[in-house]
Formats: sequence, structure tokens, C-alpha cells
Amino acid sequence: MSNIAAAGAFPLGDHTVNRMGYGAMQLAGPGVFGPPKDRLAALTVLREAVASGVNHIDTSDFYGPHVTNQIIREALHPYPNDLVIVTKISARRGEDGSWHPAFSREELTQAVHDNLRNLGLDVLDVVNLRSMFDLHHPVEGSLEAPLTVLADLQRQGLVRHIGLSHVTPKQIAEGRRICEIVCVQNYYNLAHRDDDPLIDDLARGGIAYVPYFPLGGFTPLQSSTLSDVAQRLGVTPMQAALAWLLRRAPNILLIPGTSSVAHLKENLAVSELVLPDDAIVTLDAISREHVQ
Ligand SMILES: NC(=O)c1ccc[n+]([C@@H]2O[C@H](COP(=O)([O-])OP(=O)(O)OC[C@H]3O[C@@H](n4cnc5c(N)ncnc54)[C@H](OP(=O)(O)O)[C@@H]3O)[C@@H](O)[C@H]2O)c1
Repeated sequence: MSNIAAAGAFPLGDHTVNRMGYGAMQLAGPGVFGPPKDRLAALTVLREAVASGVNHIDTSDFYGPHVTNQIIREALHPYPNDLVIVTKISARRGEDGSWHPAFSREELTQAVHDNLRNLGLDVLDVVNLRSMFDLHHPVEGSLEAPLTVLADLQRQGLVRHIGLSHVTPKQIAEGRRICEIVCVQNYYNLAHRDDDPLIDDLARGGIAYVPYFPLGGFTPLQSSTLSDVAQRLGVTPMQAALAWLLRRAPNILLIPGTSSVAHLKENLAVSELVLPDDAIVTLDAISREHVQ
């Protein structure tokens, strides 16, 4: 079994979590909609992750919808004391699986209660407000109104900590004037590095940065440079891409998503992989190439 503590730990709210975590989105059906093909396999992945030391799981009630949270509950409830489950709100799914903003007070309040019920919790550890001005790209616009609602729900004791997702530095600054922001979850990986300055800024503030699509998401990372480095080191390209993220900044928490125990084990094994400096330099150049 991998020693995932080797990758280090970082504060997330009032817990310190292992930097190698797990993202549960892949546990829903195709298109993050409906049930998975193999529910037992999904339960097994979650149990294997926690048995291996993962104590940070990312999810949302809009995965499925409801499906992923219900699988997490079935697999892991009652939860270990050190497990931090991070969820996100502000979207709803259409009957065809489409994604829509759900930013009203009623929708946000409902979403928090849905997450509590489906996860079987009295309080949610961390809730990310996911900006929905545009599904695919962070777009400027005030998040004051929905964040104020979430801060109210926090004051009511339903939410312990608040984070932001799919946001710009300006929105983070606005958010920090409204409530404490413990993490930011944005699209970032070896090939998609728009947030480089933001990551360093957040690191200085002790705020966790959680890259989503760390392996490229629905379009897995592909680059001959990445493959060459991986081959030289005797690892897979995905392992090299995760190891690069671990080296990138100390506040980066990883949540690679997989529905496969074999991939989970490969991903967790990265905790013990330290990339040599020359590999980092070579991989750094990938963002300047055309990849994906
Ligand atoms: N805030 C947001 O807007 C947002 C958006 C998207 C995702 N997220 C969160 O971020 C987490 C991670 O993102 P993601 O799951 O979409 O993308 P990802 O981690 O970049 O990639 C997942 C894809 O990579 C494959 N994979 C995983 N490990 C692999 C390995 N070792 N070798 C080869 N292929 C591998 C998975 O397939 P298999 O299942 O076959 O392994 C899946 O197709 C999600 O689980 C979710 O919690 C947040």
C-alpha cells in the first residue's frame, strides 16, 4: 500500500488533510448523470481510498444528481473522524443531464439540505460556492448575493467552512470580504496554467488550492513530452502529471477522479514519487506547447 502521508499535508478548514485526496465525480454515470455502471466498483474505490489514508474527498450533490453523495454515504458512513468531505453548490441538473445555475436563496438552501441528507451529515465540512456565470470558463461578476446566503447557512451551523470554485482573483477578493474562504477549486493542470499567479498568492495566505481536472478531466492530458519524461522515470504519464502538481506549490491539494481501483492505486502511489529537478524543468515547458 502507498504511504500517502509522504506527499505531505495542508490545512483545510479546521483539519489538516493529506495532500493526496480523491475526487468522486467519476462515480456517477456517463456525463456525470445517473447511476454508475458498476455500483459495487464505485463503493470499492471509495473504501480503498479511505483505507489507504485519503482523508479529503471532493463531491457534489449535482453529480448524478444525488448519486455520488449517496454512494459516498453507503461506502463510508459512519465517517472516520479525520475525513473531510468537500461539496459544492449553485448548479442544478436538467432532465437531460444539462447544467443550470441555481443561485437563488431557496436553491442554495435546498442544496445544502440535499447534501446533508444524502451524505448523512448534520454539518457539511466545507461547501464550495461554484460560480455559474459560464459553465466552462470563470467569468467576472459579483458573487456577493449567493455567498451571503452561504455565510448565513454557515452561521446557522449547517456549514463549517466555505470555499469558492471556478472563480477569478477579483471574485476571491470579494469573497474574502464577506466570509473566510478556506479553499479555491479551479481548473488547473500541467497544460492549463492560467492560475499560476493566483496559486502563489493563495499559498502566501495559507489558503488551499484544489485543481479540478488535474489529469485533464474529460480530455485526458496528452503530450509527447509528458510521455517521454514518464517513460524515463518508469511511471505513467498520469503519475508524472500528478507528481508535477505536488511539486508545483505546497498549498495544492490533489483530487484526481477515477472509477477504477487500479487507477486509484496508481494515483495514490504518486505520493511517494519525487520528480527530479530536470523533469520539472522539462514538464514546465508543456504549458507553452499545444497539448490536449
Ligand atoms: N469545481 C468544479 O467545477 C469541478 C469540475 C470538474 C471536476 N471537479 C472535481 O475534480 C475532481 C477531479 O476531476 P475529474 O475527475 O473530472 O478529472 P481528472 O481527475 O483530471 O481525470 C479523470 C479522468 O482520468 C481518468 N484517470 C484517473 N486516474 C487515471 C490513471 N491513473 N490513469 C489513466 N487514467 C486515469 C479517469 O478515468 P477512470 O475512471 O477510468 O480512471 C477519468 O476519465 C472530480 O472528481 C470532481 O470532484 C470539480
